[in-house]
Amino acid sequence: MQKQSSQYGYFDAEKREYVIDKPDTPMPWANYLGSPAYGAIISNNAGGYSFVKSGAAGRLIRYRFNEQDRPGRYIYFCEPKEETECDYWSASWQPVGKSLDGYKSICRHGTGYTLIEAEYKNIQSQVCYYVPQGAEYEVWKVKVTNKDTKARKISVIGFAEFTCESFYEQDQVNLQYTQFITRTYFKDKFILQTINENCLNAVNESRVETRIFGLSGAKVETYCGDRAAFLGKYRDYGNPVSVEKGKLDNTLNYNLNPCGALQTTIILQPGQTTEFSFLLGQKREAQAKELISRYEDAALPDREINELKKYWHGKLANLKVVTPDENFNNMINTWNAYQCFITFIWSRAASLIYCGQRNGYGYRDTVQDIQGIIHLDPVMALEKIKFMISAQVNHGGALPLVKYNHNPGHEDKPEDQTYRQGTGHPSYRADDALWLFPTVWKYVAETGNIALLDEVIPYADKGKDTLFNHLLKAIDFSLNHLGIHGLPAGLHADWNDCLRLGANGVSVFVALQLYYAFEIMIRFAKYKKDSKTEKNMEKLKQRFRKIIEVRCWDKDRFVRGITEKDVVVGKPGDPEASMWLNPQSWAVISGFADETRGKAVLDLVHKELNTKYGARLMAPSYRKHAFDGALALLFNPSTKENGGIFLQSQGWLILAEALLGRGSLALEYYLESCPAAQNSIADIRLQEPYVYSQFTESTDSPFEGRSHVHWLTGTASTVMVGCVEGILGLRPDIDGLRLSPAIPAQWKSFTMEKVFRNCKLNIKVNNPDGKESGCKKLTVNGTAMEGNYIPASILKTENEIILEM
Ligand code: GLC
Repeated sequence: MQKQSSQYGYFDAEKREYVIDKPDTPMPWANYLGSPAYGAIISNNAGGYSFVKSGAAGRLIRYRFNEQDRPGRYIYFCEPKEETECDYWSASWQPVGKSLDGYKSICRHGTGYTLIEAEYKNIQSQVCYYVPQGAEYEVWKVKVTNKDTKARKISVIGFAEFTCESFYEQDQVNLQYTQFITRTYFKDKFILQTINENCLNAVNESRVETRIFGLSGAKVETYCGDRAAFLGKYRDYGNPVSVEKGKLDNTLNYNLNPCGALQTTIILQPGQTTEFSFLLGQKREAQAKELISRYEDAALPDREINELKKYWHGKLANLKVVTPDENFNNMINTWNAYQCFITFIWSRAASLIYCGQRNGYGYRDTVQDIQGIIHLDPVMALEKIKFMISAQVNHGGALPLVKYNHNPGHEDKPEDQTYRQGTGHPSYRADDALWLFPTVWKYVAETGNIALLDEVIPYADKGKDTLFNHLLKAIDFSLNHLGIHGLPAGLHADWNDCLRLGANGVSVFVALQLYYAFEIMIRFAKYKKDSKTEKNMEKLKQRFRKIIEVRCWDKDRFVRGITEKDVVVGKPGDPEASMWLNPQSWAVISGFADETRGKAVLDLVHKELNTKYGARLMAPSYRKHAFDGALALLFNPSTKENGGIFLQSQGWLILAEALLGRGSLALEYYLESCPAAQNSIADIRLQEPYVYSQFTESTDSPFEGRSHVHWLTGTASTVMVGCVEGILGLRPDIDGLRLSPAIPAQWKSFTMEKVFRNCKLNIKVNNPDGKESGCKKLTVNGTAMEGNYIPASILKTENEIILEM
């Protein structure tokens, strides 16, 4: 696809890159590098930060949040103009910010790497930032080419601003301490930063930390380890005094603020290219020497970058779709999928908005994140499922926050003061453990690994049980926490952080989740021939069906909850918050609403909640009529939970419409909030066109359409599920795969390549009659199937599947 001039960039589908060729994007547009061992966030202007394991406790380089996307991983070029002054620019457009008339910048965000190219006065540079697979350091691989007709002599300076210590908060606020525990040294090819170095030979070596910023493949001529000396008085990263001079003054830091800055000079003949790498990490001196010498091999970075591409592209290749909608393809094949992996790995901790401070996984967040990758990497999903199951408390509730150093069998729980103090979570949420049901179901259905249900897994606090019994206990937890009318209590909150319905107030969303949980347990129990559990679950399902019917339905809609004072939230005619999205979509997803009722409530959603950027979470926004526990009131109208377009909920709406077979509506909702489809309105949306955000401001806002909280959001997984299971209709169960696409009538055909239980499926869907769902005929390797179902047992290594709608 060719870029249009009004846009900042475009998708390169083949390379799986988003290409930004106009660097003055409305916000820093970021990418993620690394793995849980070492994470790095980088913007299209090289802003961002890095950390070892934890953004809170392992912060390596600084970033000033909510400011001008500074500092970052900067490489400066300086060319002498006269005796003392340089003309200088940076390898990324910022921080120097040359006029875009003479300076060209292209940033290619890819899977695990970011390549920033620049051209200024016939000097072309390409810097590829990446973290080698599994490594605990990062590489800035630089390639400079002289495109001039004469030789050029250029001074190159690499710069990284170290934190004074690893704890982000300490580094930012406890300056009377942190500024006096660190110093830097120059060691021939690198700057060495030490923290608490006296402890090395004395009290406690484990306190000592050392970081390095090194140069491989070129000779260091001058260096600087002190930020003040590097920048100069009253200067910024855009005009450091040392860059202006073209050389560093060899000052090292002793107290105050450290940095790593190294300078080398390159002389390039016309057409000549040179390559070298800057290296950054938390390494000891000896390790640094070894590392730097390893990267003297100029071919190493390219090999490593290729390995990264192979790793990521391999994972993403497990589902490839070609539909008539290019935006849909780009998101499902690459960017939504990549974002699902990023949320799966980094949870809600480190982005340019989340400052890294969360020290664990939110239970419901992560259990939902898992759903986004099951179809691409069930092995990775399984590991996390077991981990999350081991964070369930013995009485069935789930730890609201699971610490990174979670120790199954030995954890405190919300009942304990220590847990509350350590995590800031005062009590249980009503929904946390209930997310296990769709997640475990999706995993078992994708893989057929029903044996997982019998696997014994510890509880967070004490004891252990089979996974099947863990699930039964999750149901017990809900049954032991019922509020008025015998419905599940809202507890600290349900999925909606801003709904405090209380210990006796009740949540309709949770009631529908519980209803769905019974249904999934019935499926499992049937499979296990456990008729006692099956009957019991069926009985419970019918019991709750009656209560939900009587208490949760009002005239034409499902209400959202009932407070302890028996006030119904979300009834028709309420002056505010009279209509809520989630209970309508979940009535369909849970199977509670039949087709007729499902269509009726979703029609009402379309009428009352839909906007051009998606359906609002509820409407009208709270202003004057909120009940006591309605924390949404704290937000401006049409913002976040107060009537904003909460994007995570769009995924459920897409899924619900698709389950009802209404493909046009499913795609309508999809496109309203699809980042790629908003590529041309980046100045309204502000966020990366390749990444979902948490929410979009809605109709009450003077900035309708503006989106916020990029990357780390549950939107990634719910929309992915809405598309894969919903629109594309890939609906596996334990014995096979049901194919139920729900597409817009104008899609005449589409194809999917999917890896399913180690078999390759080449699926072609034909829709000559312009249907939105349904199956006229399905053949697998030439044989007609019964209905739209493919038994797993008939699959070969490679399969040709044709579905006629
Ligand atoms: C945020 C939270 C998530 C919550 C949602 C709705 O996305 O991370 O836990 O469910 O908001 O309030």
